[in-house]
Amino acid sequence: MSIGRDEAILELLRETNGFVSTQDLSQRLGVPPTLVPDEIEALRQQGYGILLRPESGYRLTMVPDRLLPFELRYRLETSIIGRRIVVYEQTTSTMDVAHQLAQAGEPQGTCVLAESQTGGRGRLGRRWSSPVGDGIYLSLILRPPLSSCAAPQVTLLAAVSVALSIRAITEIPVQVKWPNDIVVQGKKVCGILTEMRLDDTQGRYLVVGIGVNVNTSRDRLLDGATSLRVECGEIVSRIDLCRRLLQQFDEQYAVLIDRSFRPIAELWETFSSISGGHVRVDLQDRVLEGQAVGIDQDGALLVRCDHGVVERVVAGDVVRVR
Ligand code: BTN
Repeated sequence: MSIGRDEAILELLRETNGFVSTQDLSQRLGVPPTLVPDEIEALRQQGYGILLRPESGYRLTMVPDRLLPFELRYRLETSIIGRRIVVYEQTTSTMDVAHQLAQAGEPQGTCVLAESQTGGRGRLGRRWSSPVGDGIYLSLILRPPLSSCAAPQVTLLAAVSVALSIRAITEIPVQVKWPNDIVVQGKKVCGILTEMRLDDTQGRYLVVGIGVNVNTSRDRLLDGATSLRVECGEIVSRIDLCRRLLQQFDEQYAVLIDRSFRPIAELWETFSSISGGHVRVDLQDRVLEGQAVGIDQDGALLVRCDHGVVERVVAGDVVRVR
């Protein structure tokens, strides 16, 4: 993949543990030394801290927590997920953009992100609040082979990937709640929305949308929601989290395609907030109560009802009652 000038400067600044001279930068970029200050200024405009010491050169002092494609790609070693990353300052919904791209033939793995969404959406037509710079709002295009492309399985795979990535960079006791939530002590910190459609060639594809409340302050959160910042008491790097998430998703997706859903289901169970507990499931037309005994090979929730029969639940809102 060819890289831009911004990326080339940053690479050189990062690989040098100290100052980089104007001469070295000019050589690496293939531009005259007189143009180097303009290139540096362009990076400062994007929020990078770059110190200039006239006798030694430039040094990188700060990386902004903005979801810039080349920051996300930095040391990202994925084989499918994030091969192409598209970032919008603002869009209606990353789901819409991802569907447009997919319908025009975009290959799987492309990741669409936005710093804010004006029409972020969740399950059952709910709104997903997407304030600028506070969260991660991303959608991934997937084209899994027919045998392994059940949307519910991919939703649970996404939940496991989010939980693993949060656990990797914070100490927060994160849990997954069937079917599409990541919670901390019962409060929602992330939601997942998986949509399946046909593209123009009638190829089936999925768009998996993930919204994480990362640095949202307490006063901006809805009832029943929380953010990573509220839970750990400090700002969390969205770049680090997002990079880890893409990495984890890539690994779990390879497991799903090359092996089976079973290892993902087992991992999911280790994070589950409801397994073994007594749950109430709102199925729109009736309410089901019983013990959550696990998930099956399709990602459906298994509930042992009070009269002993195990019911398979494929959609519904679940609350743990004890
Ligand atoms: C839910 O909890 O109901 C799912 C919420 C999914 C939100 C994400 S944010 C990125 C992507 N774009 C959207 O409009 N929705 C998903």
